[in-house]
Amino acid sequence: MTVDPSSTSPGPLAAARPTAGVLVKTDQAATSASLPDGVSIQPRRFEFDRLGEVPQYWFAGNPIITHVENAFSILIPPGERFFIQAVRNYEGRADSAEDKAMIRAFAQQEGLHTRAHNEFNASLARFGIDIEREEACAKRAIDRLQRWLPKKVQLGATAFLEHLTATGAHSLFHDPEVVELMDPEMRRFWQWHAAEELEHKAVAFDLFRQVGGGYGLRVLSAISAIVLLAVPFSMIAHRLQKQDPNPITGEMREQARAINRKLMGLQIRMLADYFRPSFHPWDYNDEPFLRDWYESTAGA
Ligand SMILES: [Fe+2]
Ligand SMILES: [Fe+2]
Repeated sequence: MTVDPSSTSPGPLAAARPTAGVLVKTDQAATSASLPDGVSIQPRRFEFDRLGEVPQYWFAGNPIITHVENAFSILIPPGERFFIQAVRNYEGRADSAEDKAMIRAFAQQEGLHTRAHNEFNASLARFGIDIEREEACAKRAIDRLQRWLPKKVQLGATAFLEHLTATGAHSLFHDPEVVELMDPEMRRFWQWHAAEELEHKAVAFDLFRQVGGGYGLRVLSAISAIVLLAVPFSMIAHRLQKQDPNPITGEMREQARAINRKLMGLQIRMLADYFRPSFHPWDYNDEPFLRDWYESTAGA
């Protein structure tokens, strides 16, 4: 199945053009005939411009939705270190020098995401969040994946979690009016991460197949990742809500539900699609989203 986002997206990113943060290309882009025309895996460093001024409720001014996204951000650094290791375990068995270059660019991108999310997560301490406790909880959850799962299942789990992040990235670009609700610095930050997730979304999946990962193991790995990560993610999000002394109004709950409905409908369909035997990440043609983002950040 091929989904062309240009047929459903309300338009280019012009309305959501970022106004903060700086992007620095750090290394050569990896290119491949397996990527759509004009798309490469380009590592970029994100430099926050005014992180200290990002408001506490940076997403729509809404505490509920902000805490959920912050919980996701707290899981990202240990999660991405896990992805890098899972892929590196099999790097030597990649089919070609081109595939190896894509794996290196993937690892560089994830390393730079980790660096930026660590910086953002540390900044949450100024809102009274016990960030060290939450980071330790996230690390324990990811350590369990590494300890309990065989290496090929770790790679399969990475392929699935990469689809999960690509799904979030796809919906972010698909609904620019939702992204408009973010503080500009955070919008710029999440769009950068989302774009790079789309660029490298098939790297772990393709490697998993190259090393003999079949459909059954792909499904088992995905279910293992869901079972092992759903609880710690919910616990962190719940604790962030509980630690927040500010009251939650009915209006905030309704707004959070509306944003969730908008983002989750598409994401659930895309996640379910992963369990189709013939699924491949590039069945979703994200090239128009990437082209718009490249144009909106040109010269940044
Ligand atoms: Fe990432
Ligand atoms: Fe990724």
